[in-house]
Amino acid sequence: MKKRLHFVITAGPTREFLDPVRFLSNPSTGKMGFAVARAAARAGHDVTFVAGPVALKTPRDVKRVDVVSAREMFAAVKEAVTPGCVFVATAAVADWRPAVCAGKKLKKTEMSNVIKLVRNPDILKSIEGCVKIGFAAETNDVLEEAQRKCREKNLAMIVANDVTEKGAGFGSDTNRVVFVYPDGRKEPLKKMSKLAVAGRIVRACENICS
Ligand code: PMT
Repeated sequence: MKKRLHFVITAGPTREFLDPVRFLSNPSTGKMGFAVARAAARAGHDVTFVAGPVALKTPRDVKRVDVVSAREMFAAVKEAVTPGCVFVATAAVADWRPAVCAGKKLKKTEMSNVIKLVRNPDILKSIEGCVKIGFAAETNDVLEEAQRKCREKNLAMIVANDVTEKGAGFGSDTNRVVFVYPDGRKEPLKKMSKLAVAGRIVRACENICS
């Protein structure tokens, strides 16, 4: 019988505010992460889903936690993970945030043309005691960068995503990815719907945990 797993999945962008009306972010819509949550729940697994600010309906049978910033996402993931769970990080987390967030809207005259930034925590790298699956959104040297991140973050697998390709990456309903393993093995997938990619990711996780 198939082992029932606990999946913790991050999705969407994070927002890093510099005042109440302005933020740094990226074009992630959350579609890829929502697909993984849906596929994992459909396969009968327990799913905790940590979503950045996105406008998508929660998949059935999924526990959802909404967050805005990278630091909130980190706190929610730490709260959600359980020993031996599968952590799938599809979120496009902002690596940097403004050093200061003003309490009120800054006037043009009050804004400097230089924003001082500080590093956000690396959520995926910091989490321990789980089977970790990462994503690598890249524009160049896609497989080399994915392999480097796989080793650096101690992952069981990373999903390499060339975001310059049409119908792949941010916002599309399809994706074309390559599964990259720490031993250098690579498994390229054809372009398919994000839900089909998600199904393949869930199966890969089941194999890794079997
Ligand atoms: O949401 P969609 O519109 O469907 O788009 C999907 C996607 C392009 C966002 C998705 O397929 C994807 O590639 N997600 C990863 C995006 C990314 O920012 O990757 P990265 O190379 O910066 O980060 C590598 C890994 O570390 C990722 O698993 C990321 O979630 C994680 N990370 C990164 C930085 C950080 N501070 N904390 C993290 O956990």
